[in-house]
Amino acid sequence: MANRTYISDADTARRLAGLGNSPAREDLVYFLASRDATVTDALYREADRARRQWVGDEIHLRAIIEFSNHCRRDCRYCGIRRGFPGVTRYRMTVSEVIDAAAAAVAMGYRTVVLQSGEDGWFTGDRICRMVEGIKGLGDIAVTLAVGERPAAEYRAFFDAGADRYLLKHETADPELYAGLNPGMTLEARVDCLRELKAIGFQTGSGIMIGLPGQTLESLADDILLFRELDLDMIGCGPYIPVAGCPTGWSAADREELSFRVLALNRLVTRDTHLPSTTALSTLNENDARALALTRGANVIMPNLTPERFRRFYEIYPSKKRIEVDNLAFRTELEALAARLGRGISLGRGDRPGWPVRSEVDKQYGERPI
Ligand code: 5AD
Repeated sequence: MANRTYISDADTARRLAGLGNSPAREDLVYFLASRDATVTDALYREADRARRQWVGDEIHLRAIIEFSNHCRRDCRYCGIRRGFPGVTRYRMTVSEVIDAAAAAVAMGYRTVVLQSGEDGWFTGDRICRMVEGIKGLGDIAVTLAVGERPAAEYRAFFDAGADRYLLKHETADPELYAGLNPGMTLEARVDCLRELKAIGFQTGSGIMIGLPGQTLESLADDILLFRELDLDMIGCGPYIPVAGCPTGWSAADREELSFRVLALNRLVTRDTHLPSTTALSTLNENDARALALTRGANVIMPNLTPERFRRFYEIYPSKKRIEVDNLAFRTELEALAARLGRGISLGRGDRPGWPVRSEVDKQYGERPI
């Protein structure tokens, strides 16, 4: 018995040690599939150690503003897809967005994430005006999450001052991707991510975990793709079933797998920013955030969408995210950070070693629009 435990521990240790330098798909599947608590304990412990080594103890906060729930896409899993029945659609005005950002900055946030459906009303020019307005508030990082756009618009956003861009690839299985996202391809998605990196954005992707038809092997491929793309931010959360798109996975499996993917992301991609996602807190309201922060995560993304709009941005069913009071939530996060012996960062929370903007400009020179 003792002998077997020893062999299993040595095997686990060897696999863990390989993840940072040359992760093997087979080793990722091993950690995703294991039913042995000593294996998962070792994974989580090592992820927490790597988190401290690569990104330190600070927890970075990002204020999300969901400024439009209009969307031209019809992604089957999404509660604001074009064809989803009964959605009350809204758009904030450019000045409402800038005001919401100013309120976030007044509360101490140094990163504002502007997120929306793929809404053609928000032309490149309108988005640039929002970015410029927010950059005028001070040394604030602006992250955009507005979907697939032409490369020329990505460049215009960057030139307007946007620092970061989030575009989740959702799943690295091309067939599953095509089935869930009508009219879209994984290839086009990944091309956008490469383009965003090349322009100079700190670039983020992410996936949903527990999609109908998803496999552990394809989750391993997701993690390998994150590494290949050298992403700066990776947000992975459980799929929360919406009407018309059920899943074969249990809630417990989706939660457990989300933690494992998080921990593996930390070990494989090392110094990236990894949020404890809202979707994970939707599955486990009380414990998920603290658990994620001790299993690799170093970022939390509070929702600062003005209350009168927030209820309509229902990507998946979740009461909690709607009822949260901004100030009370921030106080709660500070208490949580203190309880974990960590702190809330006062900085912008760029990726470690990220070149300051002027260096990026020097590197890439003048970009034609
Ligand atoms: N459950 C969990 N996450 C979802 N998203 C969209 N629909 C769902 C769902 N039903 C995520 C996707 C998308 C992000 C904005 O929200 O990853 O990129």
